[in-house]
Formats: sequence, structure tokens, C-alpha cells
Amino acid sequence: MKRRIPVFIIPVVVAILVSAYVFLITERQRSFTFEFNEYENLQIPTSQEAIDHGRHLFVTRGCVDCHGDDGRGSVIQEGWFTGRITAPNLTSGKGGIGDERSAAEIIRAFREGVKPDSTSVLFMPAHKFSSLNEADVTAIAAYIKQMPAVDQELEPTVLSLPIRFGYMFMHRVELFPARNLRHPLELSNEIPVTDLEKGAYLASACAGCHGYGMDGGPIPGVPPTWPEAPSLRQDGPTADWSLEAFVTAMRQGVTPDGQHLDEDYMPWTAFGKLSDEELKLLYEYLQTLE
Ligand code: HEC
Ligand code: HEC
Repeated sequence: MKRRIPVFIIPVVVAILVSAYVFLITERQRSFTFEFNEYENLQIPTSQEAIDHGRHLFVTRGCVDCHGDDGRGSVIQEGWFTGRITAPNLTSGKGGIGDERSAAEIIRAFREGVKPDSTSVLFMPAHKFSSLNEADVTAIAAYIKQMPAVDQELEPTVLSLPIRFGYMFMHRVELFPARNLRHPLELSNEIPVTDLEKGAYLASACAGCHGYGMDGGPIPGVPPTWPEAPSLRQDGPTADWSLEAFVTAMRQGVTPDGQHLDEDYMPWTAFGKLSDEELKLLYEYLQTLE
């Protein structure tokens, strides 16, 4: 009698092989190393003014969304799809990495997406911060280095198989952000002067989602469940908004037609803390984009 392999075994074997392949490829990419800037020569400011400015950026650039208001870190996602993604405690308290990281290493992590061992940070959207200039990145580092210690130990990041699949085949989830940045990444020491330059500089905080031309579309590197970001140019929904309407949307998350913006997608709670002056500069800049 002939022995036959049951048919149902075939898809099971294929699934196991494909999973093993995806696992091995993503593990390999996780160990890729990148070139980076040294930053050791950067002057880290010590004035209270600079530290306050660093705090303002830490809030308005959304670092607080993942690392917490006081830098204690958080588990940003946990579920069957994502596994567990943890943004570390940045303070020198128990469970924190504050004592282990120099200012240079901090800057390298958030603007180049490269960790001290030269591999990519996981998930952290470094491309959103790489346009910050020297004055701003050093202010952020100065603020982080003097954060009061907070004890919080968090479970480490675990990359689930579904998210590895999502990353490899759907190109919507960015596991290794350093791969998308050209290294080493030039750090600008230009300071915006005119109102329009200041507005454009502030708008770089929107570019990661609304696109570098502010023309909207699918957001790179986020799970496929996210909505698209609308255009912020004069062909988009904000074209005929008044400054007041714009400020209300950014501070209260409500648009003129009564739509509530979901802060999980559109981080208005962070941007709402921009000063009146900054929101005005941003608004006026966006109004110039035909
Ligand atoms: C969307 C969530 C998110 C945001 C926003 C975010 N981070 Fe992170 N950050 C992470 C995650 C996740 C890690 C852990 C990366 C890893 O384990 O490889 C991390 C790691 C870090 C590290 C440590 C890297 C290392 O050396 O191990 C620093 C420093 C840091 N972030 C600073 C910042 C700063 C400053 C900002 C704002 C300008 C910021 N982060 C915004 C998620 C985020
Ligand atoms: C993390 C991604 C992200 C960032 C960063 C971001 N946005 Fe958004 N934004 C979105 C998404 C997604 C939507 C659509 C929300 C929805 O459809 O519920 C949105 C919607 C909006 C709207 C509402 C438009 C309408 O439909 O009426 C405005 C205004 C807006 N964003 C302005 C900004 C500005 C200004 C910045 C920068 C300071 C910014 N956003 C940064 C993701 C983002």
C-alpha cells in the first residue's frame, strides 16, 4: 500500500517556511548597522532658557506621546498584531536609560534613528525629527539630561510575526527607521529668520504624516488601519479656514464642520501646546501653499 501525505499538511508546511523566512530576514535587518555623526563636539546648552525650549519641543514634537510627560516611557502598543512596542524610560530612575546615554547618543537616536550599537532604533519615527536644527536638538538633549529620575521598569519590545509580515509585504509598518534615512545625516545650524521661514520650519513637524509638500496621502510607516492625512495646501479642507478655526482645530481637535480629530492619528494635543505666535506662523505659512 502506498503511503500518502495528507493534503492539509502542504499549506501548514508552507506557512511554517514562510514564517521562518520572514523571521530570519527581519532579524537580519535588525542587526544591520549604520554610519552616524559623532555629535560629541556639539555644545549642549545649560541655560534655563535652553532647557525650557527643549521641554517645549519635547511636548510639541510629540516625544511625550510615547515617552510620557516626565520621560518615564510607556508601552505604546500591545496586541496580537503589533506584539509589544515599548518606548523606554529616558530618565536616570530605575528602569531608565538616562545614566547610560550621553547627549550625543540621545541626539543620534532621535534624529538619525541609530542606537549606541549602531543598529536602528525600533519604530521611533526619527525621520520626523531629522529636520530639527542644531539649536533645537541640543536643547532637547539638554532637557532630557536634566530630567528628574522617575522609577518605571517596562516590559521590553517584542516584534510579533504579524508585524514582521506587515513590514516586509505591506510596506506600511516601519520597524527599522534608520533604513529610510541617508547616513550620516547633515545637521543644519541655520536658524529661520523671516516669518515664512519660521512657519515652514514649524510645518516640518507635520511633514512626517501630511507629506513633505503638505499634500497629504497615506502615511508611511503606520499600521494599515490609519486614515490618510488630508492635504494642508490650498486644495485641502483647511483652505478657507480662518486663523481662529485653525487654532481651535489644533487646540481642541474640532474642525469648523464639527469633525473631532482623533488624537491617536492626528496628535493635536501635542501641537495644541505650540504658542499663539507659533500657531499663527504655521497658519500663515500653510496659507501660502497654492
Ligand atoms: C511614536 C513613538 C515615539 C516618539 C514620538 C518618540 N519616540 Fe523615542 N523611542 C520610541 C521607541 C519605541 C524607542 C525604543 C527604540 C528601540 O528599542 O530600539 C525610543 C527610543 C528613544 C531613545 C533611546 C534610544 C536608545 O539609545 O536606546 C531616545 C533618546 C528617544 N527615544 C528620544 C526621543 C525624543 C527626544 C523624541 C521626540 C523628539 C522621541 N523619542 C519621540 C518611540 C518614540
Ligand atoms: C502622526 C501623524 C500626523 C501629524 C504629525 C500631523 N497630522 Fe494632521 N492629521 C493626521 C491625520 C491622520 C488626519 C486625518 C484625521 C482623520 O481623518 O480623522 C489629520 C488631520 C488634520 C487636520 C484636519 C483637516 C480636516 O480634515 O479638516 C488638520 C488641520 C491637520 N491635520 C493639521 C496638522 C498640522 C498643522 C500638523 C503639524 C503641526 C499636523 N496636522 C501633523 C495626521 C497627522
